[in-house]
Amino acid sequence: MKVAEMIGEVRKIVESWRKEGLSVGLVPTMGYLHLGHESLIEKAVEENDRVVVTIFVNPAQFDRAEDLENYPVKTEEDLKIIEKIGGALVFLPDATEIYPEGFNTVLEVEELDKELCGATRPGHFRGVCTIVNKLFNIVGPTRAYFGEKDYQQLAIIRRMVTDLNMPVEIIGCPIVRDEDGLALSSRNARLSADKREKALILSRTLRELKERVAEGERETSKLIRWAIERIEKVPQARVDYFEVVDRETLQRLDVVESGGVVAAAVFIGKVRLIDNILVG
Ligand code: PAJ
Repeated sequence: MKVAEMIGEVRKIVESWRKEGLSVGLVPTMGYLHLGHESLIEKAVEENDRVVVTIFVNPAQFDRAEDLENYPVKTEEDLKIIEKIGGALVFLPDATEIYPEGFNTVLEVEELDKELCGATRPGHFRGVCTIVNKLFNIVGPTRAYFGEKDYQQLAIIRRMVTDLNMPVEIIGCPIVRDEDGLALSSRNARLSADKREKALILSRTLRELKERVAEGERETSKLIRWAIERIEKVPQARVDYFEVVDRETLQRLDVVESGGVVAAAVFIGKVRLIDNILVG
């Protein structure tokens, strides 16, 4: 496995693969890898001749300085994990390689950015779209892999790729959870044992909400009110948003329809966690 810090090195390596007619899978990450990331890399290795994993904590997508400063890092361990799964190249740039002086271009998906995380984290998806587009241009992958855990991110990237005719196939991968239901996230590392226990309220509420829908409750305002009350009964838990939306347009639904997704963000103390579940 090769590790490259410079864009030029990545280009050269991928170009040589392309000359041999090999397919290339790309898995963009911000590192601190867990089994969720691993599932993406595994799928990419299964489906492509060569796999590139990127590790870059992208400052442009952080809306809170505190969140960026505390983002966990374990690069040496991450490299071992990627090598074991069968990654061929890791791109590990620093911020000046990605955003050199004078950098002044952004990419935005307008409507989808107004909903959910976009509404409460201004500029976040502009930062995501810009970096993901840059990574596509640097690597030129055949396929790129993203998790359904970040449901809105996946929807926005699909939209961007369709709208701008980007020559890459986007592959969505299911959410990987701990045994107790907590969706795996690099940010879970910042939860104390007590807060981790409290954080379970999010996945539990989503699961129970789905059961309520199966039992016949369709009115989303009722379901949302019930869920927010239930979550905020837990000390230190605060709902950032809790919505039932269309899976593609992310527009709010008044009644649960087939093709709905329940998406939520909850602060447990200072740590913001997101999760979602498909309903209907
Ligand atoms: P990061 O949070 O490191 O996640 C990298 C990829 O792993 C994303 O596609 C995310 O959806 C996926 N992922 C994270 N947790 C998962 C889980 N529990 N199950 C399945 N997939 C999971 O998302 C980002 O980084 C960044 O925004 C990035 C796309 C790299 C752009 O900077």
